[in-house]
Order: sequence, then structure tokens, then C-alpha cells
Amino acid sequence: MRLIVNGTERVLEADVRTSLLDALRDHLDLTGTKKGCDHGQCGACTVLVNGRRINSCLTLAVMHEGDEITTVEGLGEPGNLHPMQQSFLAHDGFQCGYCTPGQIVSAVGMLGEWAENWPSHVSEGLDGNLVLSNEEISERMSGNLCRCSAYPNIVDAIRSVGAEGETRRADERRRDAA
Ligand code: FES
Ligand code: FES
Repeated sequence: MRLIVNGTERVLEADVRTSLLDALRDHLDLTGTKKGCDHGQCGACTVLVNGRRINSCLTLAVMHEGDEITTVEGLGEPGNLHPMQQSFLAHDGFQCGYCTPGQIVSAVGMLGEWAENWPSHVSEGLDGNLVLSNEEISERMSGNLCRCSAYPNIVDAIRSVGAEGETRRADERRRDAA
């Protein structure tokens, strides 16, 4: 099968029952993506597929022929970190770090959904005038569990990046209106 992983075409042979998670970890040596439960319950295996976050343990690699997969390694690397990776460092958003790659990738996907005005279960309305509150972040990140309970700092890290995005979009709207 042929996958586009972190911008590079990768061709691999694997049993058709191989999950995307196992394909990444065991066939492509991308071990940043973690296996917590292997049952879709912890979010440690979160990756972006064509920009949308999914649990890679719940999908077969063969279903993603030609898809663009982004793992935590594809977001940034030492010396050139993604703003979300940088923010997790700045806000001390982890303890053991096992859930962290999934948290970071999920947060990037979540802020993309936020930018597109997707409402959540706790959103007060559907008109897009939403505030990225702690409650919104917690709800939207509820598929990513942290056994160390680093949640307050995780939320701080995400809110910080989200606020920067809000400011940028407000500036763009002002420029467009001028
Ligand atoms: S390893 Fe996929 S959700 Fe837990
Ligand atoms: S930092 Fe340990 S599981 Fe989240």
C-alpha cells in the first residue's frame, strides 16, 4: 500500500488486517504515535488523516491508500517545533509523556475544527460566536486521556495556541474588511 506520511510517499507491504497504528509504528518505525489501549478509548494513537484527527488503532492501514497522514513527528522536530509542541513545553503539559503525542496531534486537529466553527456538545449556540473556554477545550479533547492527570496544564497549553489563532483570524478579518 502507498501512504503519504508526513509529506513523504511511503510504500509498505503488510497484512490487510494491520491497523494504521501498527503500520506506522512497526512498519515505518514512527514510534511517536503511541499505543495505549488499542481499543479507541485513550487517544494516545491520534494522527491526522487528510487534516482530520482519528484514532489510528481503529482503522486499517489498507483503507488509507494515498491518504495524507500526519504524525507527531510530522508536526515539528527538535529545533523546529510546532507551536503546539512548544506550548506543551512552556506550560508543562505532561508528566510521563505517554499520552502527549496524541494530545498534541489531537489539539492541532481540534483547533482546525474550532477555526471552522464546528460546535461541540457544550457550545451554547451554532452561530460560530464561540469562546474557546476551558470547558470547550476539555469537551473537545475528551477523547484523549492522561493517566497522569496533567489536564490543567494541557488545557492551558491548548488555550494559549488557540488564543494566538483567534488573534490572527481577527486581524485577517479586519484586513479583509478594510
Ligand atoms: S491506542 Fe488508540 S485509542 Fe487507545
Ligand atoms: S502525561 Fe502521563 S499519561 Fe499523560
